[in-house]
Amino acid sequence: MLFCRKIPTVAPIYISCRLRSPALYRFLTTVINTSASKPFYITTPIFYPNAAPHIGHLYSLVTADIFARFTRISEPGRLVHFLTGTDEHGLKIQKAAKDRGIEPSVLCDALSEQFRRLGARANISNTVFLRTTEARHREAVEHVWRDLAAQDLIYKGTYSGWYSISDECFYTDSQITHPPSSLTPVSIETGSAVEWSSESNYKFRLSSFQKRLLDYYTANPKSIYPSSHREKLIQTLKDEPLDDLSISRPRERLSWGIPVPGDMSHTMYVWFDALTVYLTGVGFPAKQQGSLWPPNIQVIGKDIVRFHALYLPAMLLAMGMPLSHTLLAHAHWTAQQRKMSKSIGNVADPFDAMDTWGVDAVRFYMARVGGRFRDDVDWSPEQLEKHADEIRSLLGNFFLRITSKKMQKRVASAPQLTFVQLLDQSLDGPNGDVLSSLRNLNGKVEQCMEKFEVGDALDAIILVLREANGALTHTAPWSMQNPPEAAQVSYLLSLEVLRVTGICLQPFIPEAAHNLLDALGVPKLERSMDFAVVGKANVGEVKGVKLFEGKREIASGGP
Ligand code: MSP
Repeated sequence: MLFCRKIPTVAPIYISCRLRSPALYRFLTTVINTSASKPFYITTPIFYPNAAPHIGHLYSLVTADIFARFTRISEPGRLVHFLTGTDEHGLKIQKAAKDRGIEPSVLCDALSEQFRRLGARANISNTVFLRTTEARHREAVEHVWRDLAAQDLIYKGTYSGWYSISDECFYTDSQITHPPSSLTPVSIETGSAVEWSSESNYKFRLSSFQKRLLDYYTANPKSIYPSSHREKLIQTLKDEPLDDLSISRPRERLSWGIPVPGDMSHTMYVWFDALTVYLTGVGFPAKQQGSLWPPNIQVIGKDIVRFHALYLPAMLLAMGMPLSHTLLAHAHWTAQQRKMSKSIGNVADPFDAMDTWGVDAVRFYMARVGGRFRDDVDWSPEQLEKHADEIRSLLGNFFLRITSKKMQKRVASAPQLTFVQLLDQSLDGPNGDVLSSLRNLNGKVEQCMEKFEVGDALDAIILVLREANGALTHTAPWSMQNPPEAAQVSYLLSLEVLRVTGICLQPFIPEAAHNLLDALGVPKLERSMDFAVVGKANVGEVKGVKLFEGKREIASGGP
């Protein structure tokens, strides 16, 4: 049911492509026939290992991880294939290595490892980490090149225009400006310095895909989220001719990259190389790609929409392959309301943040503040602290309150009851409100996630926890003034709130959710979304534990 498992309307487009071989035909029919149970394939951009990872990189990883983990619990048994990695070729890396006086491969080895560590530290559940310097990737890229060349979609031409090493991007005259304060012209869109290039290179006939791309985006409303990116792209495709794309650089200029097959004097353009990584990640060009391809969700930053929404789809259409179901393009994190940059010195370090506040606190903050993807959001240690306190209090402290000795003692003196038996009684007042919100939670979370509204999904969970905390304070079940039966009702209801919200929170704060479900004695097989239903299962033997790493839960407002 989730994430466009239906055949996307691109099917007629690729079926109408020239079917050049029985193997390709078999591949396409496999995709069509098995798309109902197709493994879930999700990707992040692959990161440039020219500098240490920053918060923006962690954001792409956490966003993708939330969807990967959510799919695992909403469709247990469905294979989740999750790719991330490093984008190691190109001028940017060549220059970074030269500036440090080391070989590019040495730089890449060291920094790629930091990205791998970042994923491990942040509990990212990727199943593949791919480096574009791996042999299997080179094989895939060469295969794509040869395929396009065989169809006469690649030709030798000349390029005269601007190039930004920092963006690894070609720009036309109309896309650059000469700021009065600087001697170097810059890209209007990114502000990055550009330099003039006039050279011979190979070009891909991108222009011949303009109509098909326009038709595709017009017919597929879910192809890009948020939809403003799609609307902008449609407008561009209507208004401006799509130029052919330079896909190589002369070797004397760019030596750090994959040589053009059959012409050692040219090196492939880094984006042609990098975009193919999503194919390498499913074993392309071998046959088994059929069941995994295409990606269900590709998480990307807003700055790289063009590459993923035009260049990659054109390459895929050319090869007769289906396009990704959805590009999820997130906005950026700023710091002190400015773009993060090494020269300003405002780059937030994700390792520091996780060491200070804990992994789940950082993930929670990213999803809660950055989970709407539309607007840039500002990274603020004060806000992070505030959100970390919020979840520690609503979940951690709530758990401490109901597992306190005082509460346990009070409950023990009431007649024993299970939550399911409790459901026979009608709950009123704040407890009744909590119960009805809890009943709606599962559906709400699923609906939001289906629509890529991560922030709203998390809001819905937080709202229930807030209500439950409020109800607990209001009924004060630990108080000797209240009958033990009332304590029993609050206790059982609170445990059910923790069981259901704990299941729903797994994609967002995996470690704390895991600690909580363990502490509630919830068996592993009962942690999927279909168990996040009121009364569907009982909690087991409850143990008092610490849910979050780092700071202690705030023990306030309880017994
Ligand atoms: N190597 C290319 C991607 C190739 S994918 C085939 C690249 N790498 S990057 O390291 O510069 O950026 C990787 C991702 O991090 C991009 O999606 C980018 O948008 C994201 N971020 C970089 N800075 C960011 C912020 N300040 N905030 C949020 N995300 C940002 O582009």
